Amino acid sequence: MKNNKADTLLIVEDDLGLQTQLKWHFADYNVVIAANQKQAISAIRLHEPKVMIQDLGLPPDENGVTEGFELLQQALHLRPHMKIIVMTGNEGNEHAMKAVKLGSYDFYAKPVEADTLDLIVQRAFHIYHLEEKNRQLNNQQESMLNGLIASDTKMLKICKMVEKIAPTDASCLLIGESGTGKEVIANSLHQLSLRKDNNMIAINCAAIPENLIESELFGYEKGAFTGAVKSTVGKIEMAHKGTLFLDEIGDMPLHLQAKLLRFLQERVIERVGGRNQINIDTRIICATHKDLDKLVETGEFREDLFYRIAEIQIDIPPLRERGSDKILLAKYLLNKYVKKQKLQIVGFSEDAINSIETHTWPGNVREMENKIKRAAIMCDLKYITALDLGFVNEDIAPLNLKEIRRNAEVSALKQALIASDNNISAAAKSLGITRPTLYDLMKKYDMQ
Ligand SMILES: Nc1ncnc2c1ncn2[C@@H]1O[C@H](COP(=O)(O)OP(=O)(O)OP(=O)(O)O)[C@@H](O)[C@H]1O
Ligand SMILES: [Mg+2]
Repeated sequence: MKNNKADTLLIVEDDLGLQTQLKWHFADYNVVIAANQKQAISAIRLHEPKVMIQDLGLPPDENGVTEGFELLQQALHLRPHMKIIVMTGNEGNEHAMKAVKLGSYDFYAKPVEADTLDLIVQRAFHIYHLEEKNRQLNNQQESMLNGLIASDTKMLKICKMVEKIAPTDASCLLIGESGTGKEVIANSLHQLSLRKDNNMIAINCAAIPENLIESELFGYEKGAFTGAVKSTVGKIEMAHKGTLFLDEIGDMPLHLQAKLLRFLQERVIERVGGRNQINIDTRIICATHKDLDKLVETGEFREDLFYRIAEIQIDIPPLRERGSDKILLAKYLLNKYVKKQKLQIVGFSEDAINSIETHTWPGNVREMENKIKRAAIMCDLKYITALDLGFVNEDIAPLNLKEIRRNAEVSALKQALIASDNNISAAAKSLGITRPTLYDLMKKYDMQ
């Protein structure tokens, strides 16, 4: 064994003989021994082991309250990333499966066979280290681009692009379906720019009534219109020295497009009702889910404005086209929510992973965020299932049931016929049906 003394292995076992045997066997690790639940919990707090071998059948402690499953749950709560290997005695498979469901990493049936246990422990440390590296990488990725999680090649290209163009003053147009992360990218562009210490001002062109957008953008002087009781600074002016984020730019009315164009050409504004020209130094980022090319063609969006705002265009792919990102994001979002709400969930079940991969995510990352939040609330086990996520395909369920019935009936018929040496009466009797019914079924399933 070539192992590292820095790797702490906690062994929870009440049998003294077995304790000594295991301690001796794993001498190349930093072994810590606990004989009961209480000792185990304090050892976890003190030594922060990476792997724990736990005897599931611990006897009760002095207060009579030890339970193997209880320790398992407490241990995972204290150290969610620790790999737990449970050892089962006579109680058998059922307990082992329950332990795995609750989040233990693997199980092992006594009596101890040293080489097998060795392999399991080695693999547990290996996986612990891999996951740890993965967590570190994820954290790095996140901090680089401010909460933007990506591993898909198209998205990584976008990340590179964002890093490159952020420090420039080029105007960027972000195009992508709803919920794909346009605002996240706009934020990254600002945070990675030299303007990061000044404001990023966002305005949603689709959310403000048309007659108010102008004064929102350009501000107004006292008395400019009824209700203008004092001079007010507009969003463009607030973004001086910083970044102006025009969200849903495709919804901007045509007459304002002309005004915005003039500002972009001359970089000066006049407040509504004012005469002073105010110089503004700001970086423009626009976003839309609409097809601006088409709007230009139909005359709903000015072509000259389009070229001004799209010095650099970033097309953000929908989530369904992002391969590995789906699972990565799902895990990230779950982790974030679990931490925030201090929940005990450790991951997704296999059917949940499958449904995350195959769902088309029309609402993209926002939809995923909502589904995962909901699932975390609904889930009462360690692992989130497809059902928790709200994925139950009602079209498929009855089809499957039909299939299951068919298979079960065919196999029962075959067994009965073989057991009775193809004697129809005897087979029908053993199946509890009449001869005509058996004939019907055989005909239905094309059996001779
Ligand atoms: N790559 C990502 N990594 C982490 N979180 C993300 C990522 N992309 C999007 N999100 C999260 O998903 C949600 C939606 O993102 P965002 O608001 O940026 O989308 P949008 O494209 O602006 O959507 P809309 O068109 O509806 O305004 C946000 O809560 C955001 O934090
Ligand atoms: Mg948005």
